[in-house]
Amino acid sequence: MPSLFSSLAPGNTLRNLAWQVTGKVTRAKALLASMVGGDLAGVHAVSVAIHNVVKGLNQMRSLYLDVSVRQTLTPEMASHRCLFAPGVVLRQATSSGTVGGCPYSAGTLLLLELEKARQTSGDESMIFLADTWSRCPAEQWVPAMLEGVWRRATSAEER
Ligand code: HEM
Repeated sequence: MPSLFSSLAPGNTLRNLAWQVTGKVTRAKALLASMVGGDLAGVHAVSVAIHNVVKGLNQMRSLYLDVSVRQTLTPEMASHRCLFAPGVVLRQATSSGTVGGCPYSAGTLLLLELEKARQTSGDESMIFLADTWSRCPAEQWVPAMLEGVWRRATSAEER
């Protein structure tokens, strides 16, 4: 398998070393690859996407634990409150230019901080980049999945 299978994860060096030694990440990626027919774009998309889903489910757990909040939220409202944009997406400049008074050259990698931009602007379309060429193909599936989780959790409680 190509380079995706060597771990490039930044951050905690000790943890990364442990992952290298145990082969845990390599096994997880191989399992994921087998589920998407070895499609590297698929492996990448799911590995990146899953963080946003986990963040949303953690948020849902907090909402659920607050009884007064739990009783007032519909599945649609709960789902909406558990959506987060990816922290960062990458773009590479095809020509030189300037952004916010800062010049950049062709080939420069630009990091777009989507979640920060959403919080600052209140523009919800940032979550899945719904109005752009690169919009997420899971933009309907993710809210529906979160609604389903909330519905099941709250109806299980009524039984
Ligand atoms: C809360 C969950 C999710 C959020 C916020 C999210 C958001 C996004 C965003 C903003 C992009 C565009 C990235 C860019 O322009 O560089 C994207 C692309 C993509 N997402 Fe998601 N996503 C989520 C979940 C998922 C899931 C669950 C899947 C698949 C199982 C998925 C599959 C993809 C794929 C394949 C692309 C690439 C589309 C392309 O380049 O044509 N996403 N996502």
